[in-house]
Amino acid sequence: MKKRLFSGIQPSGDVHIGNYLGAIKNWIALLNDYDCIFSIVDYHAITVEYDPGLMQKRILNAAAVNIGAGLDPDRCILFVQSQVPEHTELTWILNSLTPMGLLERMTQYKDKAKQNEKNVNVGLFDYPVLQTADILLYKGCAVPIGEDQLQHVELSREIARKFNMRYGELFPEPQHLLSDAPRIMGLDGKSKMSKSMDNYISLIEDPDTIWKKLSRATTDENRKRRNDPGNPEICNLFTLHKYFSNETEIAKVNKECRTAEIGCIECKRILSDNMVKALAPIREKSLALMNKPDDVLDVLNTGAKKCRKIAEETMEEVRSLMGLRLVKV
Ligand code: TRP
Repeated sequence: MKKRLFSGIQPSGDVHIGNYLGAIKNWIALLNDYDCIFSIVDYHAITVEYDPGLMQKRILNAAAVNIGAGLDPDRCILFVQSQVPEHTELTWILNSLTPMGLLERMTQYKDKAKQNEKNVNVGLFDYPVLQTADILLYKGCAVPIGEDQLQHVELSREIARKFNMRYGELFPEPQHLLSDAPRIMGLDGKSKMSKSMDNYISLIEDPDTIWKKLSRATTDENRKRRNDPGNPEICNLFTLHKYFSNETEIAKVNKECRTAEIGCIECKRILSDNMVKALAPIREKSLALMNKPDDVLDVLNTGAKKCRKIAEETMEEVRSLMGLRLVKV
């Protein structure tokens, strides 16, 4: 039997190449080796302010683009978190095992609290416990994540251990799987590629926009004039070449940038053409799915049904171990 793998996907409307290179690509590579469940985590998303009128679209687009990028629903379960009420139920139970002090140490909470000063709500604080419930509900063993989620998975191990000690062995301690893709920097070259920073290229970006965005992107800032030699090692776009261009092109760009044979614009042109080519199939498939939301809904409903079954079984075990399930005397 394959080990169970669980990961969460934020329902951001725009899935970008940073998400793809840093996460989705890695997940696709794991589909064969694990019994994979991926959840679109809408209950996590509501811990910061959002527009309810846009949420449906965000969820459906996240599903469509992840499937379009290769997260084949025939080889994994894809579902929406709020369709399985046991996530919140288990969260409450785990809340009663989680020391406040541990949550106060979470750096993501501290960062988000700072960014959302007017809305530091209990949900934001409890976010990592909901994340733990996500994993434990399915007895997830492996959790592929980016570096920024490491602390949360460590916490989930600690909570699993606490549950097992207090009520009896039930949950495996989840192990993180870090992808070897370095974090992809945004087009500003300064911060991680993210939707909120508006420094990204989405997976469904049209060719003109890809070119427009790349032509404005920050390169080696020491290269001020066309005839200055550049340094690919500190150029964020050269990093992107490594993912989208072939060996020969990479070697050529590397050399000709250093000797100023090519300028940034020529380098960007090559990158843009390759990126457009590489993203074309993903874009096509994603857009086709976005135009058929009923098909996406079918996938998600099927996924939720499978998950509810597993979740109900786990909750029965949890209640039983905790003395909560009423039995005939
Ligand atoms: N917090 C994760 C993120 O922002 C998403 C997430 C929610 C998750 N539940 C999860 C990741 C469970 C792994 C396992 O990226």
